[in-house]
Amino acid sequence: MASRRLLVHSATQVVQVVNNGERVLTGPAMKKLEIIQRTNEDGVSIVIDSKGNIEAIGLDGEVKKTFKNATYEKTIDATGMSIIPGLVDGHTHPVWAGDRVHEFAMKLAGATYMEVHESGGGIHYTVEHTRKATEDELLHSLKSRLWRMLKSGTTLVECKSGYGLNADTEIKMLQVIERAKRKVPIDISSTYCGAHAVPKGSSASEATKDVIDVQIPRIHKLMQEEKLHVDNIDVFCELGVFNVEQTKQILEAGKNIGLQINFHGDELHPIKSAEMGADLGATAISHLEEVSDLGIEKMAESGTIAVILPTTAYILRLNNPPVRKMLASGVAVALGSDFNPNAYCLSMPLVMHLACVNLHMTMNEALVAATLNAAASVGKSSTHGSLEVGKYGDMVILDEPKWENMIYQLGGHNHVIKHVIKQGKVV
Ligand code: NIG
Ligand code: FE
Repeated sequence: MASRRLLVHSATQVVQVVNNGERVLTGPAMKKLEIIQRTNEDGVSIVIDSKGNIEAIGLDGEVKKTFKNATYEKTIDATGMSIIPGLVDGHTHPVWAGDRVHEFAMKLAGATYMEVHESGGGIHYTVEHTRKATEDELLHSLKSRLWRMLKSGTTLVECKSGYGLNADTEIKMLQVIERAKRKVPIDISSTYCGAHAVPKGSSASEATKDVIDVQIPRIHKLMQEEKLHVDNIDVFCELGVFNVEQTKQILEAGKNIGLQINFHGDELHPIKSAEMGADLGATAISHLEEVSDLGIEKMAESGTIAVILPTTAYILRLNNPPVRKMLASGVAVALGSDFNPNAYCLSMPLVMHLACVNLHMTMNEALVAATLNAAASVGKSSTHGSLEVGKYGDMVILDEPKWENMIYQLGGHNHVIKHVIKQGKVV
């Protein structure tokens, strides 16, 4: 038998996250985590096999007995440490050029998100710079952002295009994401978001037509030729951007080429995006600061996951999304950083902290939302998001005996994280 990749032993606690083997958790199940705790005699071990999958989790004594003659490429003594699954970031916009730090001062002085956008800033500013940037330039900044995410514990991330707004630049962005998959040891779920804004000089109906008749067919062709692997379709469904009907048409066109529906809805205005998304059987809807009660009910019924982005409401001083209401209604809640030039946050520990303090989630709920449920929001919860035999050996080893320090230590998480492990390899 080939050498196994990794043995981690003597840990104080291992937080598995899974609960009855479910692939997504809702309601009270998000409150209870399965944790293996050290006993008086024994700490906790995890074995990662030669392919990078979890082969065993258990008390040191049991694991030692089962794997008597095993050899390992690497062994980590985790005495005094705790282990959680690799974090999953359910929503990011990480491919772009052009610094928007100047807009922060405008927003602090009272300008709203749409005022900045309508004055030619916001997404338009980023589009202008991203169109001019070369693939290599975009790849360079994307790689460094992905590394910062990894170092903050994220091992699977959803990455969107959306700063091209024309076929050439959208494809350029998706190709940059494709190249990054081979360069950085983080897993990526790739999202086409050509309808992220209405391009300057165009109307929403013209842009809808361009996305459906020009952009999606070109992307589909590249997918069929295996030059691109795209997983999800996204639209910014918002007053003054794409309305509910246009959004629906675009999402359906994406679904027809095999993409999972995962879009921005009910962020700034209550326009019934959630109702439409649930009717379409969307896998996930993000933001939802302004979701209606009916929208929540329909999402619970359709099993559509709410991807909540605490950084957005925080930085734009928006209403907070009604997360407690969603949880009480049985909606599966996931978390994302929303990393973009508006919300410059690459850290899921900080996102979990904001979710707990501002959105009143418990720490257990926040961890489920930032692992298993975020993995489910991109259709990957059978391989990612919990520490179970057979799943990817992706985990974060914390230099604290209690895992909650990851959330509690505001801003200090880089000192709390001892190792990030991707498929059994220390990154
Ligand atoms: O999710 N709301 C739309 N999209 C992004 C913001 C993108 C930008 O401002 O560049 C979001 O917050
Ligand atoms: Fe977004």
